[in-house]
Amino acid sequence: MSDRIPRRALVTGGRTGLGRAVCHRLVEGGLKVLATTRQELPAPEPTLRWLRCDLEAPGAPERLWGEVEAATGGEGVDLLVNNAGFGIFSPAAGPDAGDALRRQAEVLFHAPAALVRLALPGMMAKGRGWIVNVTSLAAEFPIPMMGGYAGAKAALCAWTAALEVELADSGIKLIDFRPGDYRTDFNQAMASISTDGSADPRAAAVWRRLEHHLANGPPPERAARDLWRALERGRGGVVRSGSFAQARLAPLLARLVPQRLVRRCQRAYYGL
Ligand SMILES: NC(=O)c1ccc[n+]([C@@H]2O[C@H](COP(=O)([O-])OP(=O)(O)OC[C@H]3O[C@@H](n4cnc5c(N)ncnc54)[C@H](OP(=O)(O)O)[C@@H]3O)[C@@H](O)[C@H]2O)c1
Repeated sequence: MSDRIPRRALVTGGRTGLGRAVCHRLVEGGLKVLATTRQELPAPEPTLRWLRCDLEAPGAPERLWGEVEAATGGEGVDLLVNNAGFGIFSPAAGPDAGDALRRQAEVLFHAPAALVRLALPGMMAKGRGWIVNVTSLAAEFPIPMMGGYAGAKAALCAWTAALEVELADSGIKLIDFRPGDYRTDFNQAMASISTDGSADPRAAAVWRRLEHHLANGPPPERAARDLWRALERGRGGVVRSGSFAQARLAPLLARLVPQRLVRRCQRAYYGL
């Protein structure tokens, strides 16, 4: 195992989707992994243990960190993967929009930031560690009717960038991991907590596109492979992962053309 690769990881939201694939890749790579879920705890494996955590509950990051400390004999982890999250489909003028904004900010920004703050002292004392914040290409290309999701992810991107500068030369590396559409349970989870927007034809058009893009996205193992490669390279920074069109072409073109045109393309992309 390369010296660059960490030994012990905490992955939030490891039961399904990207988190599940990342946990398996890390275990394959020889790491001991602690993973979280809100559900019944799966049976532990020799190198994969489960902790229960709902990041929306008050004080959840602190309680989780206490359990991590207990499970590792006070050692903590040298890789934190802030992966857990969900989206809320909520048109900005809808009755639930305020609640959606608050919930998205809590789980996608405040909770991961709190976990980073809890993990940092131990990493700083050792002079090494990795922090991976799973954000989204939606931070660069916001999804209509999902402004709260895009906004919270963009906040996490900016905060990660600030920390990268602040912690330069500390031995701690930060990765802003930005997936495009991946074939996971993300939309099912979103549908189960969002107001039915099918009465609004614009919302229905966007939803259909979201379903199509996710169903045709690559499998989550590809994201796990990209993250593993980034760890092996030993460099922090932004890592975009997904289809060629979403993760390579779109960000490149967006740098070359006026924002006005980018937004117009987004309208077409979502059928608006
Ligand atoms: N799939 C995509 O296309 C895509 C694109 C860009 C970014 N992402 C991001 O990737 C991450 C993983 O998403 P996914 O696509 O793998 O979706 P997923 O299969 O629905 O996985 C989300 C995970 O987050 C956990 N979770 C959700 N709400 C939570 C809460 N309040 N507290 C603690 N854990 C919670 C869930 O755990 P339990 O149900 O086990 O509790 C679940 O395992 C998310 O941050 C998402 O925003 C996904």
